[in-house]
Amino acid sequence: MSTSPDRLDDLVESMTREEKFRLIRGTVLLEEGRATGYLPSIDRLDLPSLKMVDGPLGVRLDEATAFPASIALGASFDPALATEFGEAIGAETRAKGIDVLLAPGCNLIRVPQCGRNFEYYGEDPYHSGALVSATIEGIQSQGVGATVKHYVANNQEHDRTEVSAAVDSRPLRELYCRPFEAAVDADVGAVMAAYNRINGTYATEHEALLTDVLKDGFGFDGPVMSDWWAVNNGLSAARAGTDLEMPGVGVFELLPTQSERLTPLARLNDRWPDRIPGPEALINAIARRASASRGGFPNVSESKFAGELEDAIETGSFAEGELDAMVRRVLTLHTRVDRSKESDQIHPEEHDVLARTMATRGTVLLENDGVLPLTADTDLAVIGPNVTTAKIGGGGSSEVNPFNTVSPAAGIRNRASGSVTVAQGHPPIDDPSIFSIDIGSRFFGGTESADIRPAIDAARAADVAIVVVQDIATEGRDRQSLALPGDQNQLIQTIAANADRTVVVVQASGPVELPWIESVNATLCSWYPGQEAGSALGKVLFGDADPGGRLPVTFASEGTYPTGGQTSYPGVIGNENVPVAQYDEGVFIGYRWFDDRERSVQFPFGHGLSYAQFEYQSLSLGDGTPPESATVTVSNSADRSGREVIQLYVEPEAPAVDRPPRELAGFTSVEIPANSEHTCTIDLDPRAFAYYDDENGWTIDEGTATVAVARSSRNTQLRAETAIQADDSEDAEPR
Ligand code: GLC
Repeated sequence: MSTSPDRLDDLVESMTREEKFRLIRGTVLLEEGRATGYLPSIDRLDLPSLKMVDGPLGVRLDEATAFPASIALGASFDPALATEFGEAIGAETRAKGIDVLLAPGCNLIRVPQCGRNFEYYGEDPYHSGALVSATIEGIQSQGVGATVKHYVANNQEHDRTEVSAAVDSRPLRELYCRPFEAAVDADVGAVMAAYNRINGTYATEHEALLTDVLKDGFGFDGPVMSDWWAVNNGLSAARAGTDLEMPGVGVFELLPTQSERLTPLARLNDRWPDRIPGPEALINAIARRASASRGGFPNVSESKFAGELEDAIETGSFAEGELDAMVRRVLTLHTRVDRSKESDQIHPEEHDVLARTMATRGTVLLENDGVLPLTADTDLAVIGPNVTTAKIGGGGSSEVNPFNTVSPAAGIRNRASGSVTVAQGHPPIDDPSIFSIDIGSRFFGGTESADIRPAIDAARAADVAIVVVQDIATEGRDRQSLALPGDQNQLIQTIAANADRTVVVVQASGPVELPWIESVNATLCSWYPGQEAGSALGKVLFGDADPGGRLPVTFASEGTYPTGGQTSYPGVIGNENVPVAQYDEGVFIGYRWFDDRERSVQFPFGHGLSYAQFEYQSLSLGDGTPPESATVTVSNSADRSGREVIQLYVEPEAPAVDRPPRELAGFTSVEIPANSEHTCTIDLDPRAFAYYDDENGWTIDEGTATVAVARSSRNTQLRAETAIQADDSEDAEPR
């Protein structure tokens, strides 16, 4: 089917109303295979069907490569790597015969304990925008439509289908909408509207944000699809700018067609009828949970476009022309689909290699007294509750079923030549899943016991103890706190008290508190490293790879974040029983908050150590006021190569409005060989010199500013001052 714009107009022109209805809401997939979402073909018009599948960490359909979590890619600060990842996940999506990937997610990490932070890139809008657009370019280069999600201000899982984000237009435009604007600039195929409300109106019904900002302002020409069962009022949603309701049918219609997914449950139910629910019981439990406490779970019982919207169209109260506009947008998805790129390469080996590279490049070395990198003959104790399992990801729609995994214990054992003794030392930490029927701790309630004694003995006998710990995060609920769950902190303290030297590896979904950091010799944060967790860890621990990551989020103690108070997070029940989260911090998110309030942090945004030794030699600004770029020279005086993330921040001088002390304006991740210098020119984000004003849009005021080149938001190396000319011309709209 040709998908030229004129062809799309002709297609809409030639459709019957029934055919149009079939394209504005998903339906049950009856043909072969499975998908998360499905739009049927219209054979009369030679219009193929569209299959959609999750997710941001890998293709959630049968087995697929389980790449590291998005926050690990965020920690790489490397858009080129993000594009490579996009190409790989796009190729796997294409190879499975899927046309649209329901990824990437790019909500900003406003709430440090948000259950889905692992699916997002970080706390800075420019950084997230650069990574999300690079990912989209990679995905769509494979003939697959990308779906950027969840538009917008979907920053917590607690009450996610009800909470209203009370947020002003300036933070919306300067922070929360910016990564989506970058996604539109990258020609993203679809935008997924979130469950939550913004300023009292559901995202799916928010005309100002969907039509005025996203479509008219950013120029988005594709469809806004709802999150799954996120449409609450079909007519209001369609009028506001939601073009496609997903999944478009109630759960009762969906699940029986996925009965093969319920067969294992049916078998287990046969065997343990009093312990395992049957398929019907499960479906009813889901429906009960959905219609009752809708905090983290939508009402999955029916489609809202069917019925009320279709009636309104039939009666003419919803104009046919508006229906045509919706259909036209949905049809543009086909222009991102290229089935000729279909390969049979569902899982090429280079994707395992890429998953490992992403994991090493995302690993952040927080502290190191020189114990790392290890020498190969070091005798090791490898300890941790889940140390024999690779930490694939968190719970929810982003779950991936990998072909193969390398656990931390296996990866270290494969790389070491000294002795390696493995001990759990702590009962397993739950790996939540809201899809698979977990017959482990969740149903039988059993947690294997793990005596700490063998772990202590192993630590005492080894040269170095490696302790691998992890948090618990899932879609649908937020973490209970920033503390490591269970008694993992105690485990670390006990091991550190018995080992000669101790290295801690934290597998986290976002910021975590590290109370023992002064008692250990080195600490790494590897996020959720994916299927290659162990092979990547082995490479970093033994120095084959420099820990290339830098923190894409601020690590601080829980109560000091801008969301420390109940009204800010998780919000307070207001009128009509709607929980309201006040975004009172305005534009001061993450490091911008901590810098403005001059508050102490455990580790700042952008922080991360290298095994090499970098010195910043020079900084010079390019043409323009404000300058469009900066040229930086960095030397590496170590006898080994190292990876450095060069960061540029703009510090406005006496700004006319309340602005953060510094804002990230540019960055690059570079490998610098031993005993050499590297010079590079980095583009500066013009918006780092501007602020958003309701009257005049993006505004650059006359004045001066400092451009700082830094190793983190709190580790400036060199500064250069620049004059800034006001720019209120039409094209002052810096992109
Ligand atoms: C979920 C998620 C969304 C996902 C969709 C389909 O509730 O919020 O990210 O793509 O449903 O699984």
